[in-house]
Amino acid sequence: MKPTILLTGKSGQLGSELNRLLPKLGEVIAPERNELDLRDPEQMRQVMRSTKPQLIVNAAAYTAVDAAETDESNALAVNAEAPRLLAVEAKKIGAMLVHFSTDYVFDGAKKAPYVETDHPNPLNAYGRTKLAGEEAIRNSGVAHLIFRTSWVYATHGRNFLLTILRLATEREELRVVADQVGAPTCALDLAEAATRILAGMIAGDKSQFPSPEPVGTYHMTAAGQTSWYEFATAILEEARRTPQNLPWLASATKGRPLIARRLVPISTEEFPLPARRPTNSVLSNARLKQVFAVALPDWRTQLQRCFSPERTPANFPVAVSSR
Ligand SMILES: NC(=O)c1ccc[n+]([C@@H]2O[C@H](COP(=O)([O-])OP(=O)(O)OC[C@H]3O[C@@H](n4cnc5c(N)ncnc54)[C@H](OP(=O)(O)O)[C@@H]3O)[C@@H](O)[C@H]2O)c1
Repeated sequence: MKPTILLTGKSGQLGSELNRLLPKLGEVIAPERNELDLRDPEQMRQVMRSTKPQLIVNAAAYTAVDAAETDESNALAVNAEAPRLLAVEAKKIGAMLVHFSTDYVFDGAKKAPYVETDHPNPLNAYGRTKLAGEEAIRNSGVAHLIFRTSWVYATHGRNFLLTILRLATEREELRVVADQVGAPTCALDLAEAATRILAGMIAGDKSQFPSPEPVGTYHMTAAGQTSWYEFATAILEEARRTPQNLPWLASATKGRPLIARRLVPISTEEFPLPARRPTNSVLSNARLKQVFAVALPDWRTQLQRCFSPERTPANFPVAVSSR
């Protein structure tokens, strides 16, 4: 028997990719937001009790980093109180919880990639609420995997890739922050890696799921590192060498030509935002590779694959034995 999987956030960047991949592993129940609102504890309990999932994949989050500065209580409800409740309910029914967190739990002062055991010290409200969510899950004692990722983008949704493409149709000069480094991670690569790990866990123990496998917190980002400025430069390079009728690209540019001629590197101080961001957002993925033998492609490769017409989730090979 394949597990029943409860997926939250199916309209999001990551959630929509997971919604296409997870059915390879089990029966996926992915409620609409009005059917499962993470600010509604009673509704969450009811959904958990009626669906009785073996696996909960929480791809929903309050991700508006700047808005969270003045809306921390709502961000806390979605990013911390809801994961806590999911964890408590999951533990009661013996289910496993998979959750996603962020590089923004760190302050960015470290001069090397962050490892899982580094001390978190969020600079902004979003990071504080995501850290509180992580801690609630760890403290609950539920079988869990927390994947911390960074700079997530997709060919849909609201993200840096689509913003740069839009701005490049509107302005000849783009000024982009060059003193923050991180690893831009494509939602599809992230979903594939998480699905691959879950496939291995489900296939690995035919008698029991969740199995007593290595649970815990893992960093899961693209390999390599870059700045927002270099990422923007790469986006425009790829866009210029790609046929403009690629459907998602045509939609991002609304069919208008890319007129941006100059990209100007600027400092964080020159582009003030409500929420402070870490200077160094790079997360070491060594533990993920060591424990699960999974490594995501380099950020530039991920970006190139986004612009490739062949890049579809249908190509994803998941081998799961039936149970
Ligand atoms: N985006 C990034 O750059 C980034 C970086 C690091 C880590 N992460 C983490 O990666 C994970 C996935 O992020 P993402 O970029 O895919 O997020 P996203 O595109 O913003 O999607 C968030 C999802 O959560 C849903 N949601 C929000 N509030 C909800 C509520 N009260 N009840 C139910 N659903 C709710 C949204 O539904 P609606 O569509 O109805 O709003 C949407 O489906 C999150 O845990 C995030 O914290 C993201």
